[in-house]
Amino acid sequence: MDIAIIGASGYTGGDLVRLLLCHSKAEVTCVTSRKEEGKTFDSVHPNMSGLCSLSFTNPDVSDLDSDFVFLAVPHTAAMSYAGELKERGIKCVDLSADYRLPKDVYEKTYGVTHTNYFKAPYGLCELHRDEIKRAEFVANPGCFPTGAALASAPLAKFAHTIIYDSKTGVSGAGTSPSATNQYTNVADNFTAYKWTAHRHLSEMKQEAAFLGSKANCHFTPHLLPVNRGILTTAHILLDEPLSQEETEKLYNDMYKDEFFVRLQNPTLGGVRGSNFCDVKVESEGTRVVAVSAIDNLVKGASGQAIQNMNIMCGFKETDGLMTAPLYP
Ligand SMILES: NC(=O)c1ccc[n+]([C@@H]2O[C@H](COP(=O)([O-])OP(=O)(O)OC[C@H]3O[C@@H](n4cnc5c(N)ncnc54)[C@H](OP(=O)(O)O)[C@@H]3O)[C@@H](O)[C@H]2O)c1
Repeated sequence: MDIAIIGASGYTGGDLVRLLLCHSKAEVTCVTSRKEEGKTFDSVHPNMSGLCSLSFTNPDVSDLDSDFVFLAVPHTAAMSYAGELKERGIKCVDLSADYRLPKDVYEKTYGVTHTNYFKAPYGLCELHRDEIKRAEFVANPGCFPTGAALASAPLAKFAHTIIYDSKTGVSGAGTSPSATNQYTNVADNFTAYKWTAHRHLSEMKQEAAFLGSKANCHFTPHLLPVNRGILTTAHILLDEPLSQEETEKLYNDMYKDEFFVRLQNPTLGGVRGSNFCDVKVESEGTRVVAVSAIDNLVKGASGQAIQNMNIMCGFKETDGLMTAPLYP
């Protein structure tokens, strides 16, 4: 199957190509970038030297003859390609936020008008697999909501309040340089940002509601001086107390058949470069603390996008995703 990646000069586009090298049924044949048009892929992603001989082309969906497309572009850019891909019947996973929320919630959250809206399944694979199987177009979840939802899903319907406290690596902000991600502001430093109003909160609330929860959800992200990874501490406040044994049983029951969710001590080093989400829970009665760790560029973006492609195309769900975490 021929794959095109629109937005392949960015971090998630780079990781899509890296991971798809090991896919048994898919081959990347088209990588786009407007700024890098004509340059070789490995001149922008030197880790791929000797592994990928493609050059960047300008994105033009009407010219594409690929079987499957990943949109690895910023929100609002994705909506300008999605409609034509859909009309042409080309299957697609969109890594941006453009199709993750209902139109009105999206427009309010992102402060923009959606010019090409349609409904798409929310691609959190472990929770929406049946819908994804039948889909031509899937909205890949945000990185924070992936770690948050997987940490809290087994308990969401018993909670009255969930507080997500997340720490992310710098690659979450993409390749564009800014004051926030410049070396002197990140290295040897640690800070909270968007304390009460990060856009990903809308997705977290949506997933809690999907799981039958009426919980009030709160979220504060922090920027860690590391390249990859998100560690989320979810404080799950319950109406009725649950023992440690009862809590662990709920997590075991939900995740026992999920290859990419491992119930073990979560650390960023334990998942780096891989599609795993590691989760552990501790109950103190009416407060359960659930901690999750993911690589924001893999389970939080490109890896989950490939997992979605595998489900949509009837491939083995782990194809292309058996890369072991890079530890230490
Ligand atoms: N970084 C993460 O951890 C992460 C996690 C989950 C989801 N996401 C989402 O994934 C998407 C990509 O993120 P990223 O971190 O890879 O961003 P990035 O590093 O900034 O890369 C963005 C890519 O999109 C291309 N692009 C920008 N505007 C475009 C347009 N109008 N038309 C076509 N191509 C355009 C850029 O190349 P040219 O400008 O040269 O065309 C570049 O290749 C974003 O929507 C982001 O929110 C990112």
